[in-house]
Amino acid sequence: MEFMKTIAMRKSTRSYKTEQISDEQLNTIINAGCAAPVGLGAYDTVHLTIIQNRGLLDKITKSSAKVFGPNANPLYGAPTFIVISGKPNNSLPNIELADAACIIENMALAAADMGLGSVYLFGVISVLNKDKELLKELNLPDGFAPVSGIAIGYSTEPITKEKELKQTIKTNTIK
Ligand SMILES: Cc1cc2nc3c(=O)[nH]c(=O)nc-3n(C[C@H](O)[C@H](O)[C@H](O)COP(=O)(O)O)c2cc1C
Repeated sequence: MEFMKTIAMRKSTRSYKTEQISDEQLNTIINAGCAAPVGLGAYDTVHLTIIQNRGLLDKITKSSAKVFGPNANPLYGAPTFIVISGKPNNSLPNIELADAACIIENMALAAADMGLGSVYLFGVISVLNKDKELLKELNLPDGFAPVSGIAIGYSTEPITKEKELKQTIKTNTIK
């Protein structure tokens, strides 16, 4: 897909088919994430956990109910949830959040390019960090904690509409 068209086609998908994405699509998405810029080039301070196990996805949704109420559906039924974890750097607070944002956007654009839906997930991360049993199931290396996530899958609604590329963010220019 032409690059600006891919940007215009990406939008948050909040309803997914149960059909899983292929391993090839997943690989493309992971490679796109790994090509993202990371502060100090410290790729060893970020970690990706790919969750495609329905039992674990359901456990995350169930645990979310304790935080967000009984109707919580933070993963929107997506069959793939990728958690980005980071190792905090005391001299550069929050850099792992910025790293995760770059990684996620690359993955979201790669997904859009293949006609897949995705959504950036921040809210559910607090659930993972609060539920020590769930956290254990992520099997993270020492010193890492989840910072952001992305849900990926086939949208139940066809993704056909390009968004208009316009200045939704206020800018000022100094020449
Ligand atoms: C840092 C960040 C956190 C977000 N967290 C969530 C989230 O927890 N749940 C959700 O449904 N969407 C989340 N979103 C998606 C935004 O709501 C969405 O990107 C925004 O409304 C623009 O819509 P679009 O993605 O369709 O262009 C998040 C987006 C960003 C960048």
